[in-house]
Amino acid sequence: MANDDVAELKIGSKVYPLPIVAGTIGDEGLDIRKLRQDSGYITLDSGYGNTGACKSAITFIDGEKGILRYRGIPIEILAEKSTFVETSYLLIYGHLPNKAELSDFSNKLRYHSLIHEDMLHFYDGYPSTAHPMAILSSMVCSLSAYYPDSLDPKDPEQVDHLIPRVLSKLRTIAAYSYKKSIGQPVVYPRNSLRYCENFLHMMFAVPSEPYEVDPDIAAALNMLLILHADHEQNCSTSTVRLVGSSDANLFASIAAGICALWGPKHGGANQAVVEMLEEIQRNGGDVQKALALSKDKDSHFKLMGFGHRVYKNFDPRAKVIKAQCDTLLGKLKKADPLLDIARRLEEEALRDPYFADRKLYPNVDFYSGVLYRVLNIPINMYTVMFSLGRLPGWIAHWREMHLGGDERIGRPRQIYTGTVEAPYIPLMERR
Ligand code: SDX
Repeated sequence: MANDDVAELKIGSKVYPLPIVAGTIGDEGLDIRKLRQDSGYITLDSGYGNTGACKSAITFIDGEKGILRYRGIPIEILAEKSTFVETSYLLIYGHLPNKAELSDFSNKLRYHSLIHEDMLHFYDGYPSTAHPMAILSSMVCSLSAYYPDSLDPKDPEQVDHLIPRVLSKLRTIAAYSYKKSIGQPVVYPRNSLRYCENFLHMMFAVPSEPYEVDPDIAAALNMLLILHADHEQNCSTSTVRLVGSSDANLFASIAAGICALWGPKHGGANQAVVEMLEEIQRNGGDVQKALALSKDKDSHFKLMGFGHRVYKNFDPRAKVIKAQCDTLLGKLKKADPLLDIARRLEEEALRDPYFADRKLYPNVDFYSGVLYRVLNIPINMYTVMFSLGRLPGWIAHWREMHLGGDERIGRPRQIYTGTVEAPYIPLMERR
């Protein structure tokens, strides 16, 4: 190394200086932006396990120590003391809102809770079996059709108009998609209610009966959404940044993030965990069978809700959610056999050298599905709930990227391994 600020890469007899970029808490990276230009080489890193795509001041994770902080504030403190609306503001605008800022932000969320009536017809076009994530992504993208004059990502005023709109309307779209899937009339938002209460009201109220939101359920939902609100450069957030880097509008970028989140290796794992626990229950509760299958490389089955690219220790969010499952079930005087199976599965996995050697621990999705069950959220809505929670994180990253100034369109290179040059053979001559 030449000095503390520059690393050197030697290829053959040539040495290339690579400036070292340091974060505020220990992260250090090699700046390779000039590497190809200077040397002709690119780097190869499928899955981006060693690639920093941006600098960001939003969320800090120490995966070895199991630390997660939003704008410097530990996740455990936010889960205990904050609200989802306040945490959203913190993530997006970089500081905890004062009273006036919070009240203004909350009022905007209230004001924008309805969606255009025409959009209600869209729901009729989907089969009743449609997964709500398919509906959510397309409805969110469709929102861009209703704001053609406010879609410029480079105009901070237009962006600030869109932020409360998407935060408020995605919640309404999510609840309506559930109502449509069970054949009930949609329940319009009631703006006297707070953010989470209003969502529960739209989900569970029916026009024919009074509905009271249970404050314990609303508090648990609030906490769950906070825990999901951001997680730095995960797959869906990176997708939002990548799509946004082409200057696609906020709604289109968020819709892409929703699609990325849907996959079972990412946010879709919360649904897959509960399906796996149900399967174990049907098979008499034998957790060893699932563990054995997940270790068998020919099976392609992974223990859902286990493992993480960044955490090589407990995911701090999983700890909070597990404790909340116990608290809430205690308060509601309920038991859930799936929680017992989850606990046994975790215990056995943590004792197993396969999981210990690979540092595989429960992640955020392991207990969140069990908690959604307690909240009476239907299983196909779990990943929608994750989307609702992750929305402020997606917005914060999209906004940070556009305000950052050094943004370029996302466009990775490749190492081509195909045919060098091939002739075009006319159809009649092909075998
Ligand atoms: C989320 O990135 C984020 O921040 C995501 C997230 C967020 O908030 O945005 O935290 C949310 O997406 C949580 C993850 C939800 N997904 C799951 O629970 C699905 C099950 N988990 C895995 O598929 C996996 O652990 C991933 C996708 C989460 C991480 O994949 P990596 O980092 O690419 O890990 P890997 O595949 O390189 O695994 C290393 C080893 C492999 O074994 P070997 O080839 O070395 O022998 O561990 C094994 C893997 O086969 N392994 C597992 C396993 N996870 C990894 N083996 C069994 N069961 C598992 N769950």
